[in-house]
Amino acid sequence: MFFPSGTHKDHGLAFNPLKAIVSPRPIGWISSIGANGIHNLAPYSFFNAVSETPPMVAFSGSPGTQGDKDTVKNIEETGDFVVNIVSSSLMNAMNITSASLPRDISEFDQAQLTPKPSRLVSSPHVAESPCYLECKLWKIIDLPQASDESKSRLVIGEVVGIGIDDAIITPEGKIDVAKYQPAARLGYKDYAIINKVFELDRPDT
Ligand SMILES: Cc1cc2nc3c(=O)[nH]c(=O)nc-3n(C[C@H](O)[C@H](O)[C@H](O)COP(=O)(O)O)c2cc1C
Repeated sequence: MFFPSGTHKDHGLAFNPLKAIVSPRPIGWISSIGANGIHNLAPYSFFNAVSETPPMVAFSGSPGTQGDKDTVKNIEETGDFVVNIVSSSLMNAMNITSASLPRDISEFDQAQLTPKPSRLVSSPHVAESPCYLECKLWKIIDLPQASDESKSRLVIGEVVGIGIDDAIITPEGKIDVAKYQPAARLGYKDYAIINKVFELDRPDT
């Protein structure tokens, strides 16, 4: 099967398969704070690390009924955000924070999570998360207008600080991913949990 983008329904596919094809995607659970002082938290799976040196991450927010997502609005106001990692035990809390709430209600409260002050940025991080990245905004790029006339915004940040729960660090000085089992997003309503890890040597090492 092959089809030009946007014509999947003419080819027997009920849903756009893009997100199922580009999977698994990590979930950037983005915490931020607005000029109003309210803490915000929401999952973004159009998210990834895009460079190691300098350490950079990016995610994109598609506009909702109220225009830009609160996360994007907050980051424009303060110039920073935190990426928190979703462990398997935080899946339900993560899902709760994806609800579209009025801007003056904090998803931390709704999901009964603890906003903890960060060291290098104004945005708080999720105390319950096994690791997090404190980020300073580098650039927001407006993506092209979509067929429904909406415009997504690509937020690119530099990682300026990294927080890790000491309990997930191995004696060899590595992070034990299988210990906290990060969640990943597939297509549709599907998720995966990383609970098995194996090594592969590269041919030139
Ligand atoms: C696992 C998951 C991943 C999501 N990824 C994105 C995404 O990449 N971009 C986006 O605009 N919305 C995404 N959403 C929806 C937002 O989380 C949702 O619109 C949320 O209410 C935004 O909150 P905010 O307005 O406080 O930023 C995702 C939802 C879930 C459950």
